[in-house]
Amino acid sequence: MRRMSAFRIVVLASGSGTNLKAILDRLHGGGEVEVVGVGSDKPEAGALERARAAGVETAVFAAAGYEDRAARDAAIGDWVEERDADLVVLAGYMQLLTAAFVRRFRNRVVNIHPALLPAFPGLDAIGQALAAGAETTGVTVHFVDEGVDTGPPILQRSLPVPSGCGREQLERTVHALEHELYPEAIRMIAQGRVRIDASDPRVVIVDD
Ligand code: GRF
Repeated sequence: MRRMSAFRIVVLASGSGTNLKAILDRLHGGGEVEVVGVGSDKPEAGALERARAAGVETAVFAAAGYEDRAARDAAIGDWVEERDADLVVLAGYMQLLTAAFVRRFRNRVVNIHPALLPAFPGLDAIGQALAAGAETTGVTVHFVDEGVDTGPPILQRSLPVPSGCGREQLERTVHALEHELYPEAIRMIAQGRVRIDASDPRVVIVDD
């Protein structure tokens, strides 16, 4: 059955927001998916500029404004609910979300990671792949759980690392792949084609 109204997402981002841009360009305003808010911990984040340029509401949740992480994540969660969002999309959001936030939005928070998880989790995944001499790396879109980059993968795509490949070149190809994969994964979720296996919460099933 087709949804009558757009699938509502909020995006959290700390940086320049090229993934946000891909989401805005490829999904937003097409009727199927609507970006209903962009939040950041950094008032100067380029992502906020991009959101404003697209006429999307923005919010800043700076650490200094809250007593602790729990208070900040509670405020973000209230904002997500006020926006009536179906999904929270992390796009270069450089803060760890509390377990309480993850529980509040269980299986409704997704992240993109520039490696084929479980390989190279955490910071600087591209540098890790180069340092390890990996011949293949890639991109993972996954549900967020209480760990760091440990949630169940939804969509993964690999790319070869040519011998002698420099950091700049690898960053370029990984980011280009991210900009394809994230909108694709979000569209699949919006279409109701992504579900957690009832018998194993680590397994994601994608229906055709
Ligand atoms: C991306 O590489 C993403 O995989 C990682 O953070 C980076 C964000 O880049 N989680 P941008 O701000 O979307 O350009």
